[in-house]
Amino acid sequence: MEIKINNLEKYYDSRKVLDIDSLTIEKGKITGITGPNGCGKTTLLNIIAGLDKDYKGSITYDGLALNRQVADKMTLVFQKPYLFKRTVYENIEYPLKLRGMNKSEIRPRILDILKRLEIENLMEKKAHLLSGGESQKVALARALVFNPELLLLDEPTSNIDPEAIEILEREILRFNQETGGTVIIVTHNLEQSRRLGHRIIEM
Ligand SMILES: Nc1ncnc2c1ncn2[C@@H]1O[C@H](COP(=O)(O)OP(=O)(O)O)[C@@H](O)[C@H]1O
Ligand SMILES: [Mg+2]
Repeated sequence: MEIKINNLEKYYDSRKVLDIDSLTIEKGKITGITGPNGCGKTTLLNIIAGLDKDYKGSITYDGLALNRQVADKMTLVFQKPYLFKRTVYENIEYPLKLRGMNKSEIRPRILDILKRLEIENLMEKKAHLLSGGESQKVALARALVFNPELLLLDEPTSNIDPEAIEILEREILRFNQETGGTVIIVTHNLEQSRRLGHRIIEM
């Protein structure tokens, strides 16, 4: 999905936190966004995701304004993922049910994504009781399972161990390569941006 941002301004009270004249996020690519704490990375992602509508300027998604169809094709993984107080399986099932997928199609998809992220053993665990790294994997699985056209990731690997980071990065890359889904990854880790991004934007 191609994102075009024009004349974007965001204020909190009277303080301007974002001012972007023009920015295009290329379709099918991984764009890394880095910058110091407080520079507006999360704010920008929330706006692109349609969660924050209080801004000036325009954003288009493959040339269209945000609507229900567009929203259904994208997903945001929060820095601190919130998972439902249900099993891991049910958490990952949710976006598929929401989109009306057949029951027979749902199970194999979930099993496949669990395997990719190496979390089959967590399937029946309650999601809110998982460790940080486990939660991040489940949150990514829940995002990837419906093959979004736009995947927005807010610091998906902060505070987790190197082994989990490797798995998350591998699956982000694989998702992009296999489905051609567009990815925007916010990270304060420039190394990670370089490892994953086709393009890096410093805010
Ligand atoms: N809900 C809010 N109300 C007021 N100020 C906010 C709010 N959310 C974020 N800010 C401020 O806006 C700036 C950008 O925040 P944020 O987008 O979270 O930055 P980043 O993700 O790059 O660390 C920061 O100065 C932050 O304190
Ligand atoms: Mg942030």
